[in-house]
Amino acid sequence: MAKPTFNPEEVTKIIRGRRSQFPAQFKENDPVADSIIEEILENANWAPTHKLTQPWRFIVYTGAGLKTFGDYQAEMYKMRAEKNGTPFLEGTYQKFKETPSKASHVIALLMKRTEGSGIPVMEEISAVAMAVQNMYLTACAHGLACYWGTGGPTFWAEAREDFGLEGEDMLMGFFYIAKATSDTLPEGKRTPIGEKVSWVRE
Ligand SMILES: Cc1cc2nc3c(=O)[nH]c(=O)nc-3n(C[C@H](O)[C@H](O)[C@H](O)COP(=O)(O)O)c2cc1C
Repeated sequence: MAKPTFNPEEVTKIIRGRRSQFPAQFKENDPVADSIIEEILENANWAPTHKLTQPWRFIVYTGAGLKTFGDYQAEMYKMRAEKNGTPFLEGTYQKFKETPSKASHVIALLMKRTEGSGIPVMEEISAVAMAVQNMYLTACAHGLACYWGTGGPTFWAEAREDFGLEGEDMLMGFFYIAKATSDTLPEGKRTPIGEKVSWVRE
């Protein structure tokens, strides 16, 4: 294919202007068009991937599916508290139940290993994270509120089977997307890059 012309200023603008926004900033009951979600997923699919294993898998909850997911994680929280004797908090239960429905779409982020690929698991996790960055940038380019959350079932062993995970496969969290209530974004916070880089010139 012919080499496309990019606009580096625009790339820098979207990278530095991307922000996470959370359910408190979500416009409720005003869904994002599925066509935009499909664009976000298509862009996820263009992440780099060693040996083209393309380890990302997605489950998209929307409409009544958001309630299905909220009920699922709330009931699993309750079941785990009973089974493990950990404290059960009614507020936490309600939060698990209700938060997904504040979003327009919630996308479960899965990493699926390719048997016999020989690719170290670190590389497959990294490839999924790159796919998620593509999702963040595309959602933000559309002015949407979004964030990557690693709460709820992310680290619950009991949830693995429900998400079809085997062996070293992983649930890597959930990508929440909604229209934003505000035109402003939080200020970015980073310590200087100079503190994190060393150069070798000779
Ligand atoms: C792997 C990963 C996991 C994250 N998990 C959570 C989470 O569980 N809860 C949360 O509020 N934010 C989570 N975030 C979003 C961060 O809070 C957010 O990226 C950070 O505050 C920096 O803000 P920014 O994204 O606007 O630059 C996660 C981000 C990454 C990359």
